[in-house]
Amino acid sequence: MAQLDLAIHLVRLDSETDFAGWRDAARRLATNDIPPEDVAWQVGFEDDVRNSDLPAAKPDARLVVPRDFIERAETAICHCDLERFGFLYRLLWRLRTEPKLLSIATDPDIRRLEAMEKAVRRDIHKMRAFVRFRRIGEGADERYVAWFEPEHFIVERNADFFVRRFTGMRWTILAPHASADWDGERLAIGPGAAKRDAPAEDDAEALWQTYFENIFNPARLKVKAMQKEMPKKYWRNLPEASLIPDLIAGADKAASAMIARMPTTPAPHHAKVQAKHWPTPQTADADETADTIPELREVAKGCHRCPLWRDATQTVFGEGPENADVVFVGEQPGDQEDLAGKPFVGPAGKVFDAILGDAAIDRRKVYVTNAVKHFKFEPRGKRRIHSKPNAGEIQACRWWLDKELELIKPNLVVALGATAAQSLLGRAVPITRMRGDMVEREDGLRVFLTIHPSFILRIREQADKEAERERFLQDMRKVRELMGA
Ligand code: URA
Repeated sequence: MAQLDLAIHLVRLDSETDFAGWRDAARRLATNDIPPEDVAWQVGFEDDVRNSDLPAAKPDARLVVPRDFIERAETAICHCDLERFGFLYRLLWRLRTEPKLLSIATDPDIRRLEAMEKAVRRDIHKMRAFVRFRRIGEGADERYVAWFEPEHFIVERNADFFVRRFTGMRWTILAPHASADWDGERLAIGPGAAKRDAPAEDDAEALWQTYFENIFNPARLKVKAMQKEMPKKYWRNLPEASLIPDLIAGADKAASAMIARMPTTPAPHHAKVQAKHWPTPQTADADETADTIPELREVAKGCHRCPLWRDATQTVFGEGPENADVVFVGEQPGDQEDLAGKPFVGPAGKVFDAILGDAAIDRRKVYVTNAVKHFKFEPRGKRRIHSKPNAGEIQACRWWLDKELELIKPNLVVALGATAAQSLLGRAVPITRMRGDMVEREDGLRVFLTIHPSFILRIREQADKEAERERFLQDMRKVRELMGA
């Protein structure tokens, strides 16, 4: 309990957070009309001298202190400001004659009080978030110890929170100014400690690191915001923090890779693009005006043959020379094709191009199109996830593919995957069994069957992926041979 040295009006408090002592001394000082400037405050006793002649609080002196002030002072006293005891006494002194003082937000003392409370509350919150216990001992001796360096004197104030949160554990939190120890039944607040008193590592370390690596989202990384939330000074005591510099350094690359893997969101100008491309809906006999591929492409812009046009950005028509020997037919445009208005320009297109190159087939000399000319997808959040076209949609769009083949008159058509094969042959075909086969249609058109290049993209196992790529390359080499035939 605090004691008062009347000669120098020196108040000695038991600890940095001795609020009961401060309150008792403040009451005695105020009721004895001792002004703030005549008082000095000190924590601890340098000697054994304890003043026994503290003036008792005058029972008949009126001292009305708003309850709100007591609560706020109890928080502010945890602040590390060396002058806080005197400052709080000055506020109490002013409240005697200015009972509305606490509601004057512009008063410099009130602003200072608010800033102190805010800083303490923030530190309390940080401690709750960043205390990391390390296990010591086994079985009956098992207990958990944490080292934490708060900015303010908050260990005692926060201890109840940890008791409630970790009631079933035996733990100790060590900090430079105080320690809190819970033995499963009783909370004890003790003196401060040094970092070396706490264990450095335990098995839980690796777990924390794995957890942090997994929740780290490079695309969301805002270094400043992250450091505000998790200030650097806490890093040295967090097992996961050793990963932060590397994760930040690799974030740009990781984010780009994530973005590349992600479908883009529908273009914000979607409606405008639609309006531009579909000035008039295509009617059943509009084809009569289309005698060339460019004309047909123009007419196809207004295609309403099936409902897929509603959600897609635009019709993605075939591309390539009108006199091409070979026509490659894919399934339907993907996310990137829908936005670009061109077939096979996304991830599957890149695989396709690379393998065509390896097989010495020049993409500029072949015609590339799709069985279905509009992107079909399921919206998932901001993403558009590819959805397989159904038989009705394939059938409706076959009209365009027939027209393309009629005008181009290729020697060979390559069906890339089951949808293309179904559209070209008018029936479902088991691609895995028939890949590499050539089927001749009734009209004499030769259709070579193979897989869709996106199949290679979906294989996870590297060795299997390589093997499948090699098989597709062999198929393309066959196509090249057939092209010459
Ligand atoms: N997949 C296809 O089938 N076609 C494209 O144009 C792109 C991806």
